[in-house]
Amino acid sequence: MAKQIRYGMVGGDLHAFIGEVHRKAVNFDTRAELVAGCFSNIPEYNVETAEAYCVDKSRVYDDYKEMAAKESSRADGIDFVSIATPNFLHYEVAKEFLLHGINVVCEKPLCFEVDQGEELVKLAKEKGLLFAITYTYTGYTMTKVMKEMIAEGKIGKIASVNAEYAQDWLINELAPVEGAAENLSVWRKDPKFSGVSNCVGDIGSHIENYVHYVTGLKIKRLLATTNTYGHALDLNSNIIVEYENGINGAYWCSQIAMGHLNGLVVRVFGELGSLEWQQEHPDYLRYTPKGGAPQNLSRGDGYIKEKAGAGSRIPVGHPEGLYIAFANIYRNFISALIDKKSGQGCIRRGLPHGFGRFVRRPLYPRRHRQRKEQLRLGGALTNMQVRKDFIIVSQNNLGGTIDEKDSCISFGSNSCNEPRRLWHKNHNRLSRRLRRSRGSKEPRYSRSQRRPRLDRRCHDLCRGKGC
Ligand SMILES: NC(=O)c1ccc[n+]([C@@H]2O[C@H](COP(=O)([O-])OP(=O)(O)OC[C@H]3O[C@@H](n4cnc5c(N)ncnc54)[C@H](O)[C@@H]3O)[C@@H](O)[C@H]2O)c1
Repeated sequence: MAKQIRYGMVGGDLHAFIGEVHRKAVNFDTRAELVAGCFSNIPEYNVETAEAYCVDKSRVYDDYKEMAAKESSRADGIDFVSIATPNFLHYEVAKEFLLHGINVVCEKPLCFEVDQGEELVKLAKEKGLLFAITYTYTGYTMTKVMKEMIAEGKIGKIASVNAEYAQDWLINELAPVEGAAENLSVWRKDPKFSGVSNCVGDIGSHIENYVHYVTGLKIKRLLATTNTYGHALDLNSNIIVEYENGINGAYWCSQIAMGHLNGLVVRVFGELGSLEWQQEHPDYLRYTPKGGAPQNLSRGDGYIKEKAGAGSRIPVGHPEGLYIAFANIYRNFISALIDKKSGQGCIRRGLPHGFGRFVRRPLYPRRHRQRKEQLRLGGALTNMQVRKDFIIVSQNNLGGTIDEKDSCISFGSNSCNEPRRLWHKNHNRLSRRLRRSRGSKEPRYSRSQRRPRLDRRCHDLCRGKGC
């Protein structure tokens, strides 16, 4: 079956780092298909990557300009392009595709100059196009929980921010050994390709984006030291910032911090409490209310609200990680694109139709549980079943009223038989209740109408074995 969305890539050949992450992230939700690319400036790498992804030869381009021109003139041209090239190409490649009317997902850091970024924003607005930047860490569920809690005033007025991003993968750059293999690729070393910074541009940009995303704070001015250790660009930096509202924050980013792998840590201190998130333990958020004990909130638990919890794909306790964070950014982008294509504007948020979400809630006594289900029938969620300590919910297509046809279930089990039995039991019960609540004129959905969806879902779960 043809996918809903077609996309192309610039950069990200099989030998590169982040391009592969983009492709895997898109594939998590199987709604978009890679159909075109200019994956590398090295022709062999370009062809090799295209072959690995079965991209038709006629849509493999030597040059991104040719790709933008040809793809925009095809009836089945790409809906969006993903840009995973070194920094210096982001602006010019993004601009080229926008000018040709193609939506863009681009790697960070977006541009070398603020003017360039503003120009891209203006262009995207004028052309009515979507533009996303893959600031990975905003895709985590607990990041979204942190943002929600701050907005709800859980920690009160923000008093201070402290954030660090510590890595040690460039430690050898402190004392390079002649002839030894280098970690730092050529483009990252050279201001022409990397911009005015290596370390701050590469990982400091994540700190700035993250803090702004969760708090809304905007930097007014800053004071920074950058350490280059004899190289052209920085490997370590300490930054003190002042936000527009007058409070201060301190950021540290380093790629020579021995013993640290990918240690993004953000701490926000307020008058009523504090929050801390660590990228290496992304399913947890440390919350300390004023006068109370520190609490470790976890992804997928009952106190996580609908919007933030939408990014949670598997039950808590099963680590998700970077691929899912990336996939969540793509999922939101692709949902918005599908809405845009269908003329609905960007109204859908959260889960696309039919995608399940796992939320663990405390077990209620049976009486209370039933009551809870009844209450939920009037809401936007179709709450289908309580199984062990998991309530597994699925979301209506566009929120709003319950549509029986949309009330499909995502099962939290690998076994086909039990979900099948539970599905019938719960679906029939829910159908009866819905009909009762809507009056007897509501159409009945026959067993044969429901079966195909069930069979397909079972098939997905057991991958065709014994279903
Ligand atoms: N969001 C994140 O968390 C994250 C993580 C890592 C890297 N990045 C960003 O992703 C970008 C790429 O980083 P990387 O580590 O994958 O780099 P890389 O050097 O591994 O890959 C760069 C890719 O661009 C291709 N390329 C270079 N010139 C090209 C051209 N003219 N046309 C087409 N393709 C071309 C190369 O062949 C290669 O495939 C950087 O901007 C980096 O900052 C983001």
